[in-house]
Amino acid sequence: MSSENPSQKGRPAVFLDRDGTLIEDRGDLSRPTDVVLFPDTVPALRRLAEQFELFIVTHQGGVGRGVLTMADVDRVHRELLSRLESEGVRIREVYVCPHRRDEECECIKPKPTFLLAAAKAFGIDLRRSFTVGDHPHDVELGRAVGATGLYVRTGHGERHRAELPPDVVVVPGIREAAEWILADAEARRRSEDFDRDVADAAAVLLAGGLVAFPTETVYGLGAHALNPTAVARVFEVKQRPRFDPLIVHVPDWPAARAWVAEVPALAERLVERFWPGPLTLVLPKTDAVPDIVTAGRTTVAVRCPRHPVAQALLRQSGVPIAAPSANRFGCLSPTTAEHVREQLGPAVNRILDAGPCSVGVESTVVAMDKNGLTLLREGGVPREELEALAGPIRSAREDPSRPSSPGQLPRHYAPDTPLRLWDDAIMPRLRGRIGLLAFREPVPEGPWSAVEILSREGDLREAAATLFAKLRALDAMNLDWIVAQPAPEVGLGRAINDRLRRAACYREGGQKLPAVFGESGNL
Ligand code: TXA
Ligand code: MG
Repeated sequence: MSSENPSQKGRPAVFLDRDGTLIEDRGDLSRPTDVVLFPDTVPALRRLAEQFELFIVTHQGGVGRGVLTMADVDRVHRELLSRLESEGVRIREVYVCPHRRDEECECIKPKPTFLLAAAKAFGIDLRRSFTVGDHPHDVELGRAVGATGLYVRTGHGERHRAELPPDVVVVPGIREAAEWILADAEARRRSEDFDRDVADAAAVLLAGGLVAFPTETVYGLGAHALNPTAVARVFEVKQRPRFDPLIVHVPDWPAARAWVAEVPALAERLVERFWPGPLTLVLPKTDAVPDIVTAGRTTVAVRCPRHPVAQALLRQSGVPIAAPSANRFGCLSPTTAEHVREQLGPAVNRILDAGPCSVGVESTVVAMDKNGLTLLREGGVPREELEALAGPIRSAREDPSRPSSPGQLPRHYAPDTPLRLWDDAIMPRLRGRIGLLAFREPVPEGPWSAVEILSREGDLREAAATLFAKLRALDAMNLDWIVAQPAPEVGLGRAINDRLRRAACYREGGQKLPAVFGESGNL
């Protein structure tokens, strides 16, 4: 990945073949009156000229064969260039090879002599440049210097098509060639911007700053995991109690191995099946992991996110990233960069924005020790999928003798508005403006001031992906209550219901519980 500034590398160019590409191929052309532009040529070149230097590279073997003179060729080009110029298209230079192929000159296509000359004379960045023509030589010409060669089916295009290598871009004519080039240039710009943003964020992380970044589950608030001061800032910014350990994010399993002391065989199988993806493994830690990350525990939670931006950040920075969800402690997790800005704002040094998260609920967290697997948190990998691989799993909730997760507080992931789970008995007791968070259609009758539906068709993936954003929307509506319909208790429905149950954790009478509990449940 590069963070070079493209403006330092010179301008990109398009090198255009003449006959059969820009104008009709009428053999050896000696009279300016025989120049016939294709109807698409002028509009296509006009668009290209906004972003590229334009050159013509043409072979006029008729000169070598004695049927044309260079003066004829020059006259034709003066006519062509002035026609184009009057339409607002400037051709920077016309390069002509006048030789016969058997003369074995240095300038005949596909030898890149003219392209190298243009690069030198006009400061052209050949790797970001293109060639367009109706002969395989026009494509090879570009490839010879790391440019991209496009093949048009006008002129001789149809005739020589079979001679092309299989991976060449073939388009009907000059218009489609221009469209393809402009789209490709736009994609490259985006990817250069992306590389720059990621490189910049990685530098911020390495310097001890905080970077919010997208994962497939929710946005994370990341710090260099081996820098205790940076990790301390995560706790401060989130207002998270220090007893609640953080997940260490890694780009792959070999990277995780450095922080894990023992690896049960089952862990390897889970990793093989679910990484990269929304599964976090709690395993015995090595001394290399700072205590502040694990809240002094002997275990570390490791997770390998699938999101390409998270992956790019991890690989670019080359360090493990400690990251909780990028929300204030106890509040709704962010599934867009905007949510992060609203909640944490200027306390975060960089926010990498990649739009909404696809899974929408946090990763599934499992602990592994000699007693086997314990489910610490329902999440993006459904319990059934884990059990298909690992056999029946106990959850910490079902078996208090099992290891537990300090983060599993009764009240968590909560909106400010009091929330109740749907229940016929409770409905008559709720007064004021009530909003419904429906799981699916049809929406039940009720005195609703607002309704949000997680998934019209009852699709669990869609419901999980929209859960936090819809809760947030209801929370912003000044309601007295939010009533939430639980999802079916299967697959991702379990993670959805887990979040709803925690969001619904209130004292009798609707009075709020404090957002933070101690591990023992003390206030
Ligand atoms: O999807 C996710 O997991 C997101 C993204 C950003 O990766 N992260 C996330 O982190 O949800 P956080 O900090 O909000 O939740 C991590 C959970 C907490 O419940 C924490 O207590 C638990 O994992 N945890 C972390 N390390 C642990 C450990 N060593 N033992 C037991 N539980 C641990
Ligand atoms: Mg041609």
